[in-house]
Amino acid sequence: MKISAELLARLDGARHVMFFTGAGVSAESGIPTFRDTPGGLWARFEAAELATAEAFRRDPALVWGWYEWRRMKVLRARPNPAHEAIAALAADRPVSVVTQNVDDLHERSGSDVRAHLHGHLDRPRCFDCGTPARHPPGVPAVAEGGARIEPPACRKCGGLLRPGVVWFGEALPAADWQAAMQALDEADLLFSVGTSSLVWPAAEIPLWAARRGACVVQVNPQPTALDEVADFNLQGPAGEVLRELLAARRRPSER
Ligand code: OAD
Ligand code: ZN
Repeated sequence: MKISAELLARLDGARHVMFFTGAGVSAESGIPTFRDTPGGLWARFEAAELATAEAFRRDPALVWGWYEWRRMKVLRARPNPAHEAIAALAADRPVSVVTQNVDDLHERSGSDVRAHLHGHLDRPRCFDCGTPARHPPGVPAVAEGGARIEPPACRKCGGLLRPGVVWFGEALPAADWQAAMQALDEADLLFSVGTSSLVWPAAEIPLWAARRGACVVQVNPQPTALDEVADFNLQGPAGEVLRELLAARRRPSER
């Protein structure tokens, strides 16, 4: 992919670059997205049976085991060139990362993540009293697609532990949302990478950035609702596109 001289100039001149990321940034690490077909999680599993508080009340073992499968996949995965390029771009300018992802692949590639808007797979807490807990060390062995696993008990009240993710119908974590708003306030260039831009309120972030006059760049192999708003649409897999962006910056001949 050819990166335009105009985009490189915008990147050079930016005071603060914000990366707003979704499941597509981890796709090349082998972590499934949600809405791609046929591989997306919501094409294979019923969200209402797995990703709501009602579902957990109804069948905690089914829900806990499904998230343990997802946690196992992340523990076995490695950051890909997209995560690495985002971390590398922070070497010579302020960069903030705000992600909808519940994995830690940005952190493992060296990015300082300001906000996990939809929580973390590896930060369980008590369903009843909210006390944070920890998973035992090691990688759980869970069958493909999940298995029924009883959630561990809370040390404080004996209630059941739940995954530390945001479920449908739940509010986003306030501190993360505030941190995202702070990053938005500072950013004059925003990259929206690997998100379908369909889940609110997170999907509003790139729209607000555009309205505030920031330059908006989208990286996605598929068209999304953000296409019309973005100043630049870089169509392709994030690893490939961001690696090329990094390489183009290092090639003075392209200026
Ligand atoms: P989606 O599954 O909705 O969208 C993934 C996006 O990534 C799509 O637009 C794909 O075209 C794109 N994509 C696929 N492969 C890619 C690649 N290699 N490089 C770049 N982009 C690629 O995932 P999100 O937008 O993250 O919420 O979904 C938002 C939220 O919906 C998730 O955080 C999750 C889900 O329900 C919760 O769990 C609360
Ligand atoms: Zn408890």
